[in-house]
Formats: sequence, C-alpha cells, structure tokens
Amino acid sequence: MKRVAILISGGGSNMVTLAESMVGDHPARPCLVASNNPDADGLPRAQAMGIETAAIDHRAYPDRAAFEAALHARLLASAPDIIALAGFMRILTGDFTAKWAGRILNIHPSLLPKYKGLHTHARAIEAGDAQAGCSVHEVTAELDDGPILGQARVPILPGDTEADLAARVLVQEHRLYPAVLRRFAADNRARLDLPPVVEVD
Ligand code: GRF
Repeated sequence: MKRVAILISGGGSNMVTLAESMVGDHPARPCLVASNNPDADGLPRAQAMGIETAAIDHRAYPDRAAFEAALHARLLASAPDIIALAGFMRILTGDFTAKWAGRILNIHPSLLPKYKGLHTHARAIEAGDAQAGCSVHEVTAELDDGPILGQARVPILPGDTEADLAARVLVQEHRLYPAVLRRFAADNRARLDLPPVVEVD
C-alpha cells in the first residue's frame, strides 16, 4: 500500500476528493495533510476525515531553504511514497524537488503548457480561447513544467467571468486528480485525457 502526503494552502477541496478516493482496492492511503498556512480551512477538514495533519508556517522561517528543510523533515517523519500538491501555493525549489524526484504530483488549473503560473482563467478568457481546463503533472524544478499525466477540458462560454470558469474547471479537477493519482500509485504514468462530461437535460 502506497502512502500519500497531500500539501495544501487553502480550502482543500482537491485534498478531500483525493482522500475520499483512497478507499477499497485503491493502491494508496493518505498518511498526512500538511500546509504552509496554519489557518488553511483544509486542515480541519482533513482532521475530520481522521488524517494526520501538520502546519509548517513558511512565514516563521528566514528563507525558502529553511522552510523547505522543515517541510522535508516533517514529510520524512510520515514517510510518504507520493506527495500530492493540492492548491499548495509555495513554489518548491530544485533542491527540494530533487529529493523527491518522480514522486510529486500537482494539479494546475490550465491546459499546460499554456498559462503556467497564476490567474490562468482570466488569461484564457482574455486570450479569447474556446477551451480551458486543468492538468495533473509531475513536479520538477521548473514551475508547472513537468511531464503531464492527465488533462480535462471545459468550454469557455460567452460572458464567462473568471469565477464562472474557475468553478467549471474545479469540477473537472475533482474528477481528474483522483483518477491520475490512482494510476500513479499503481505505477501507471500513461497520460489520461478525461472525456468531457455530457450534460443530459
Ligand atoms: C485549485 O483550483 C487548484 O488547481 C489550484 O488551487 C485551487 C485549490 O483549490 N492550484 P482547493 O484548495 O483544492 O479547493
């Protein structure tokens, strides 16, 4: 059975869907939910699911290296096989990603390689794109750049606001991330493109 540590910074809706998916014949189980933000709403949600939690406040450290050393030490204490970034908003350095090479996943709310970084939905709308979506990728030293393991697409509709699109994409994130994690935990790194959800009136 693989052990999965989930890193969050905020509400943790992706964390909840990942944790809820790791049951039955799933090849993995959550072993830790950690956050750089001690006030993250996702922490009490994880505790309510009976998952061990930890807060490593990045503001309490003099620099990124010191924060990452503390995060690394806390992760080692839980001995995860896989680290799943789920709305974790700290950029990890190459030193850190090298220590966990090939074992870190991230969900990003765009169709990578388009729109790495922030404000992905506003940029897709601004560009007049017809589609948006989300991607699960392996984490490497380059931000939002590692091998893509899965994607899901949604239409951008006339008059869409950033919030409209974010809500539509989040639904796909909650489908895609558990599906990719299950494959990854079974050592299947083949790319998964989720079929669009067909709305039935
Ligand atoms: C998600 O949209 C994720 O793609 C992005 O941050 C958001 C986190 O949402 N990186 P949640 O905390 O999982 O609800």
